[in-house]
Amino acid sequence: MRFDVVTVLPELLSGFLDHSIIKRAVERQLLEINIVNLRDYSTSKHKQVDDYQYGGGAGMVMMIEPLANCIRDLQSKSKFDDIIYLTPDGKTYDQKEANKMSLQKNLMIICGHYKGIDQRARDMFVTKEISIGDFVLSGGEIAAAVVIDSIGRLIPGVINDETSALTDSFQDGLLAPPVYTRPSDFEGNVVPEILLSGNEAAILNWRNEKAYERTKNFRPDLLME
Ligand code: ADE
Repeated sequence: MRFDVVTVLPELLSGFLDHSIIKRAVERQLLEINIVNLRDYSTSKHKQVDDYQYGGGAGMVMMIEPLANCIRDLQSKSKFDDIIYLTPDGKTYDQKEANKMSLQKNLMIICGHYKGIDQRARDMFVTKEISIGDFVLSGGEIAAAVVIDSIGRLIPGVINDETSALTDSFQDGLLAPPVYTRPSDFEGNVVPEILLSGNEAAILNWRNEKAYERTKNFRPDLLME
């Protein structure tokens, strides 16, 4: 699977790519990530990529010309399953969407900055608009890292224990149950006995019950879906 990420701050993404599980996936050729500097597609002398908004108002808008040049150049080299724009006014991202997107081969991600990108770029090129939550980040790069990480770890071979991604929170519509490791007694706080019993059926049952209980307490909305 390949991501082409369009950004005005490539350094912000290189930190994430140099140190995460994703780095290993790239080294093992399970993932390919191409970071594209939008300024390389600006035709102005000062490599300008943003300008004042028509109609007035605070905040700059990312210009359509560099974006169109960049997107068309990338499109001439690959066929994209989706051109994704990361924006707080997009559809809220969730595990279901991550699962779906992990089956695709080529995704372009556009990171917004300032007030966002010119609406015409959205109308002309973007096929999917994603928000990672109801809050505003100063740029789309952190959101891109979130999306790439959450999709990347679903690709077979990227995380060591392949079954582990299947038991994550949300994969069965519930939050994950509590987990414990050694020691079994820490300052009198003991691990639930059933987990030490070796009774697999009883342990599975306990985990299901705890997952349901946690979901009911913290995310009752998940039980209504
Ligand atoms: N850019 C700024 N805020 C964002 C958010 N919440 N999700 C995705 N991209 C963003």
